[in-house]
Amino acid sequence: LPARFTIDPAFAVGKVDPRLFGSFVEHLGRCVYTGIYEPGHPTADAKGLRQDVLDLVRELGTTVIRYPGGNFVSGYKWEDSVGPKDERPRRLDLAWRSTETNRFGLSEYIHFLRKVGGEPLLAVNLGTRGVQEALELQEYANHPSGTARSDQRIAHGDKEPFGIRLWCLGNEVDGDWQTGHKTAEEYGRLAAETARAMRQQDWSEDLKFVACGSSSQGLDTFAAWESTVLQHTYDLVDYISLHAYYEEHDGDRDSFLASAVDMESFIENVVATCDHVGARLKSKKRINLSFDEWNVWYQKRPSPHQVEDWQEAPRILEDVYSVTDAVVFGSLLIALLRHADRVTIACLAQLVNVIAPIMTEPGGAAWKQTTFYPFAQASKYGRGRVLQVNVDSPKYETERFGDVDVLHATAVIDDSTGAVTVFAVNRSQTDALPLEIDLRGIAATGVVEHSVLADSDPEAVNTAAEPERVIPRTAAGTVVQDGALRAVLEPLSWNVIRLA
Ligand code: AHR
Repeated sequence: LPARFTIDPAFAVGKVDPRLFGSFVEHLGRCVYTGIYEPGHPTADAKGLRQDVLDLVRELGTTVIRYPGGNFVSGYKWEDSVGPKDERPRRLDLAWRSTETNRFGLSEYIHFLRKVGGEPLLAVNLGTRGVQEALELQEYANHPSGTARSDQRIAHGDKEPFGIRLWCLGNEVDGDWQTGHKTAEEYGRLAAETARAMRQQDWSEDLKFVACGSSSQGLDTFAAWESTVLQHTYDLVDYISLHAYYEEHDGDRDSFLASAVDMESFIENVVATCDHVGARLKSKKRINLSFDEWNVWYQKRPSPHQVEDWQEAPRILEDVYSVTDAVVFGSLLIALLRHADRVTIACLAQLVNVIAPIMTEPGGAAWKQTTFYPFAQASKYGRGRVLQVNVDSPKYETERFGDVDVLHATAVIDDSTGAVTVFAVNRSQTDALPLEIDLRGIAATGVVEHSVLADSDPEAVNTAAEPERVIPRTAAGTVVQDGALRAVLEPLSWNVIRLA
């Protein structure tokens, strides 16, 4: 049986905020050091940024880049990361049991963003620190001149303020693994007072704050945490965060392929909680969602590298992604797009080497993982309005989620050109899926391209030795005829169909 849906531009979910295509750079493993920053690398610029990596980051099309953590931020002293490099202290990073050299810091982050055209999303430490340190960081970063911290920035060589508009109020403070872990009451009060003070320093309307939501929908505190935190912060913040990572459990691939079912329910439950608090407070304001950590992450898989404590830039969390992972990853992107009305920031965690779409070798090459492709395609073609797509699909049975649609799909229209792009995943491991789309309301004349990522070996990966083992290719036979699109989606595939 074919899967079917209708595309009609009269029915839209909402406009895609470009910030949906964000990513994340944490001081963790080799994300920064030998990832984006490696003085001495043959491609390094004068500030030590690897230009081979900069090129790939630009091609990936990421927009906001969250920094510097993650768990790392909860022990972070931002003052250590600025000024002459030789005077910056080496510190113990408790989150990842590594040594932080601080050779890369705030100024280097801003320089990196300017090179790739990214927007800052800076997290403040609300684990071991509080209001005063956040205020001083904001003054250092954003105040033009004439005060202790702003003049310090200028003396450090950065005359222009950094202009940081988006701030995360801590990271995963709900988790007991977090340095400075707090209850919802404790965190809600601290987040509120930090945002209030930072707004006293800068009244601009475009100053935005992300409060910490839950680190996972599975935590016992989920939803109650959001409710309490928002009760304290509703008028002071703009977003609540969500974090989710998916992996295959006990060989149950069918459930893994349906991971987006969990992601969509997580989003819908957080929207309901935000709106519930808004209703209780009789507020007209709407809190949006910042899904500022999402990815496939094999947390249970043993690391291939033996890593001792307190190393510099150790090889940790260097997951290698297969075709199957890329299909699940694509489905997670579809889930985010399908909720673009409320998810207005999202950050792929992370950008380089650490659970990342881009890998590097120190002194050597940089290459794309399988997951690079769905992200780059979604960022390039997923701009505009997300259309409502009500899928009528054959189903398959999963252990974790019950019956699930074999097809997971969304469509985005670029209203400036009328171009429509369909993003679709076939979750079946064995069967091709015929797809019929009723194109009522759009004057599509043909198919520009049907790109597919699939492989006869679902475990195929890209490596330094074989960096282009897995790349998207053009699928044949997709046509527009009599107002309908007809395609066949290969088993276990990520598809991008661009209509003319
Ligand atoms: O992205 C890796 C880690 O996952 C982050 O540091 C933390 O916020 C989350 O638990």
